[in-house]
This record gives sequence, structure tokens and C-alpha cells, in this order.
Amino acid sequence: LQPKLLAGRKVLITAGPTFEAIDPVRGITNLSSGKMGFAVARAAREAGAEVTLVCGPVSQPTPRGVTRIDVTGALDMHREVMARAAAQDVFVGVAAVADYRPQAAAEHKIKKDDGAPPAIMLVENPDILAEVAALPKPPLCVGFAAESRNLADYARKKRAKKKIPLIAGNLIEHGFGGEDNTLVLFDDAGQTPLPPGPKSELARALVAHIARLLRGD
Ligand code: PMT
Repeated sequence: LQPKLLAGRKVLITAGPTFEAIDPVRGITNLSSGKMGFAVARAAREAGAEVTLVCGPVSQPTPRGVTRIDVTGALDMHREVMARAAAQDVFVGVAAVADYRPQAAAEHKIKKDDGAPPAIMLVENPDILAEVAALPKPPLCVGFAAESRNLADYARKKRAKKKIPLIAGNLIEHGFGGEDNTLVLFDDAGQTPLPPGPKSELARALVAHIARLLRGD
């Protein structure tokens, strides 16, 4: 029997959107379903890893054998990831983390009145992936970059800015949330387009690529 690709490895994954509260009933979020991140978690678990999945508000079933931590906003996701990141072999950021959040959520529901529309002051969220990559002994860090155009250019720039060894450029052709996807991997060796297909297949190919990088192939 062949040993599994990630046997004995610890893998931390983020998935889904974040929800940044404006008031008790409203917020800023995006259309990430969590499917891609959950597929990566499932594939890493199937490859023998001990997997922890930190996810924003999604309605995906928890993959068997995976430890799931549900969060709401980017600050919660940041806290849960940073508490665990140093002990991991691999960190994969699949979440579509909101870049900004309202400076302070209103305590009570904002009421409509006849004056000017309310202004929402935004502040920047921490860059979770960049912070994990900047740890003294970081896990192997993998990012995702969802782009609707200039995939290679934008993905390469994000990889360089966040100082991570591998990024999966995610061509957004039909919006978020579908069953299929198109990924191109960018690392020091160049670019590796994966055959477009179901997120489950792409997740397995990504896990195999990560295992090769861990081995130093
Ligand atoms: O959930 P699905 O519906 O299946 O859709 C999957 C997906 C399209 C959301 C996913 O495959 C994807 O591409 N996620 C990344 C979305 C994106 O473009 O993120 P970004 O450019 O804002 O961030 C780049 C990387 O930094 C990502 O790995 C992200 O998780 C990470 N990041 C970003 C901002 C932040 N504050 N903290 C982070 O860790």
C-alpha cells in the first residue's frame, strides 16, 4: 500500500466568505459558497492530513474527519487562524475575506429617515494569509486569487505581494458558487494550468501539487 500524500501533515484551510456587520441585521459579504475550500479540506483529509477548516457563513456539510471552526467576520477568522497557524505544515487560504469592514457595527438597527443616506466608514481588515506567511517559521502558504481578467498578471502580483510560494489563480467565468472551476497554479517553477472540471478534482490536483512542494520535487 502506498503511503498517503499528506500522511502526518497538519493542514489549516480557510473557506467561504466573511460577513462584516453594519448593524444587527445587515452586513457586507460576497457570494463565496465555500465549495472550493471544502473540496480542498476533503482532498487534504483523503490524502491523510490532519485538517482544520476555518469557515465563514456557508451551508456546506462538514467533510468527514475534518475539524471545523465557524466564524463570521474577518477579525474572527484572523483570530482563529493565527491561534493555530504556527503549528501547521500547510496553510491554504481559499476564503474570500472582505478587504474592509465597517469601522463599528451599529448597536441597533439603522432606521431609514428622510435625510441623506447614511455613510458607512470602512477600515481595512488584516491580511490573514500575508500574516501567516510572515511568521518566523511559516507553514507552506498557498493562496487563491479569483480574477475575471488578466489572471496570470494579477495572480503573480498577489503571490509576490503576500510572499507566498504558491497561488491558485481562479478564473471567474460564471461567478462564485458553481460545481466546476478553472485553476492555474503559479509557483517558483512557473505556471501549471489544471484541466477545468469539478472542484473536487481540482482540489485533489492542488493537494498533489502541495505534496510535491513539501517533498521539494
Ligand atoms: O466558495 P466558492 O463559491 O467555491 O468560490 C471559491 C472562491 C472563488 C472564493 C475561491 O476559489 C477563491 O478564489 N478565493 C480567493 C478569493 C480572492 O480573490 O481573494 P483575494 O484576492 O481577496 O485574496 C487573495 C488571497 O489572500 C486569498 O487566498 C485570500 O484567502 C487571502 N486573504 C485575502 C484578504 C485578507 N484580508 N486575508 C486573506 O487571507
